[in-house]
Amino acid sequence: MDIVCSQQELKLFEHVSEAATKMDVRSYLVGGFVRDKILGRPTKDVDIVCTGDGIALAHAVAATFPHKPQVNFFKTFGTAQFRYEGFDVEFVGARKESYTTDSRKPQVEPGTIEDDQLRRDFTINALAISLNKDDFGKLVDPFNGVEDLQNKIIRTPLGPDITFSDDPLRMMRAIRFATQLDGFRIVDDVFEAINRNKERIKIVSQERITDELNKIMSAKKPSVGFDLLFSSGLLKEFFPQLVALSGVEIIEGKGHKDNFYHTLQVVDNTADKSEDLWLRWAALLHDIAKPATKRYEEGHGWTFHGHEVVGERMVPKIFKQLKLPQNDRMKYVAKLVLLHLRPISLTKEDITDSAMRRLLFDAGEEIDDLMILCESDITSKNRLKVKRYLENFELVKQRLREVEENDKIRNWQPPITGDEIMRIFNLTPSREVGVLKTAIREAILDGIIPNNQEAAYALLIEKAKELNLKTPNH
Ligand code: CTP
Repeated sequence: MDIVCSQQELKLFEHVSEAATKMDVRSYLVGGFVRDKILGRPTKDVDIVCTGDGIALAHAVAATFPHKPQVNFFKTFGTAQFRYEGFDVEFVGARKESYTTDSRKPQVEPGTIEDDQLRRDFTINALAISLNKDDFGKLVDPFNGVEDLQNKIIRTPLGPDITFSDDPLRMMRAIRFATQLDGFRIVDDVFEAINRNKERIKIVSQERITDELNKIMSAKKPSVGFDLLFSSGLLKEFFPQLVALSGVEIIEGKGHKDNFYHTLQVVDNTADKSEDLWLRWAALLHDIAKPATKRYEEGHGWTFHGHEVVGERMVPKIFKQLKLPQNDRMKYVAKLVLLHLRPISLTKEDITDSAMRRLLFDAGEEIDDLMILCESDITSKNRLKVKRYLENFELVKQRLREVEENDKIRNWQPPITGDEIMRIFNLTPSREVGVLKTAIREAILDGIIPNNQEAAYALLIEKAKELNLKTPNH
């Protein structure tokens, strides 16, 4: 098995080898670095395991570099880390678990490289490469990890129930790897074990779960992961709102689409067009309130009136539940959920410039992302229908561009501000100021007056008279 390493990497490994020999311990490259090298994926995380004190080895290696990188270490976990030329280099001592007869709790004690490999999550992550002088570069592969890499199989070294009970997050990791690594499949008995152990995910912190979720979301085709999360039963444990989208109800022979699979399609479509994680979150949540707003109207069919408004309100709760950031990112997602129907609604009516201006004004900075989301939302089994919608959508995009060029409504502020209105009429902040401000904005957006100061001022005076405000002297 040939792997290609850069000069920098080789230099690092030689330094580790030297230091380990001096300390009389054996050292190995292990885990994701070996996996990714064999797969030819770029990686900047180097994991090193040694038969001895990992923290001491990290210090010894760091000391061999002229710039002496700072070593960060965690005594409780026996791990240490430093940065070297853009690499994140981590050290740990090989350990094994032994069970005493009177306790079900394992004792962790120093072990061999094989002991360490046995305790890792998947065979493809349990490969090691020797950094020892006597067999430098030799692959140590006790569980046929290379074969599993070739066959694109995700399998645990131990029985999956044991591997998952060591750390239930590994259930998420299995699904994440099946999503990130193209064509990889979780073997049946491991997948069944996820289903059996799914409730154990509750003992894992939400931050760790969400980290994995974001990695699934950042993959080329996130639907692979969400489909597996759903079918294994894991998704329901921490994200029941998404599961609630699944299924089709039929009344009077009329069904609606399965909103779960529709949503996954929208996420994939968005992922094809943009790398942005938060735009992908908006896609995942765009229809989240459909179950809550679903109605069957006799003679008409299924409706989800107001799901965009209810959905916008659900976003902060879901972000809190999933420990996602409670900041501008959340507001961005909520805004896109609220507006996601707007561009498509413009394909169904005579498109007026004023409707275009309103959309540009309401979406502001987010208009381009909103258009990506909306276009991604066009899914149907009927290809002709999709084609027709997309053609209409192109027209909307074209018209939007024209209106934008003419009126510069994106990030637009009306020509007279609230402060100016207060000064002109000698007002304190009050309802009247709001009424006047809105009147100017609406008149411009509706195209009743042009977008300039003179017209806005004339309208302001007129509206102020209606409110019996004292007209200024000039
Ligand atoms: N590992 C494990 N169980 C976990 C987490 C990690 O056995 N719950 C082991 C695996 O051998 C893994 C290695 O620790 O390869 C490094 O973990 P990590 O850096 O989290 O993952 P990588 O496999 O390197 O993958 P990625 O960098 O893509 O997260």
